[in-house]
Amino acid sequence: MDDLQGELRALVAGVRTHLEARARAGLVGVSKAPCPRGKGTVQVDAPAAPAAAAHPLTEPADLETAFAADSEPPFPHAGHGLTLVRAELGDCQRCKLAQGRRHIVFGTGNPEAHLMFVGEAPGADEDEQGEPFVGAAGQLLTKMIQAMQRTRDDVYICNVIKCRPPGNRDPEPDEVAACEPFLKKQIAVVQPRVIVALGKFAAHLLTGEHTPITRLRGNLKHYQGIPVMPTYHPAYLLRDESRKREAWHDLKEVMALLRHMGLT
Ligand code: URA
Repeated sequence: MDDLQGELRALVAGVRTHLEARARAGLVGVSKAPCPRGKGTVQVDAPAAPAAAAHPLTEPADLETAFAADSEPPFPHAGHGLTLVRAELGDCQRCKLAQGRRHIVFGTGNPEAHLMFVGEAPGADEDEQGEPFVGAAGQLLTKMIQAMQRTRDDVYICNVIKCRPPGNRDPEPDEVAACEPFLKKQIAVVQPRVIVALGKFAAHLLTGEHTPITRLRGNLKHYQGIPVMPTYHPAYLLRDESRKREAWHDLKEVMALLRHMGLT
């Protein structure tokens, strides 16, 4: 229930920010045009006539004009939504990891991806470059994505924690608590059809189950109605190659699920 209320608050806040920005820019109304996922570009709005600017969203006449204009999709484009979430994160000082970080590592890939990968936290390479999964574990993740007949640009990749824990230690509960709302907002904006949870931190957070990853992996769970496949973290697979067979089994399950959804 708390989760749902949080989601709703985030959604309302995102839409309000968007509408206020539009109103400040003198843009009116919303469109009745459908907004197909993964298609098309965001159209640039034409500025409203100055007379319409008083409170455009409450004026029926202006709404009619705006609906007729078909000027914009009804909700912010997912890329725009992620920009809002990133802006809300700002120069985050919500936990002690802020002191040692070089970059906040927010996420990368297709903002409208059907498939999302969630890891644990940035390491040294990611902190240096500001992008998730670019080090050794990232190279293995790239191969895993390619084995699934996809590229890094097709999917969305992020972490539970956005700043590097010192010495790559495990994230601490207060750090997870500070970052968790942002992961949830990323998921709410991207609306992936399937999430792969890489390792125990992502798996525990998204499934709500705190069983060892060796038991959790391969068992399809759900987060807010979205299927979540827990599997081993690529860094663990680098340390124990014998686990790769199980991980590949999990990824094949995900591919079958996507195929079943008509998403090849
Ligand atoms: N490990 C993670 O969990 N995330 C990264 O971005 C890199 C390594």
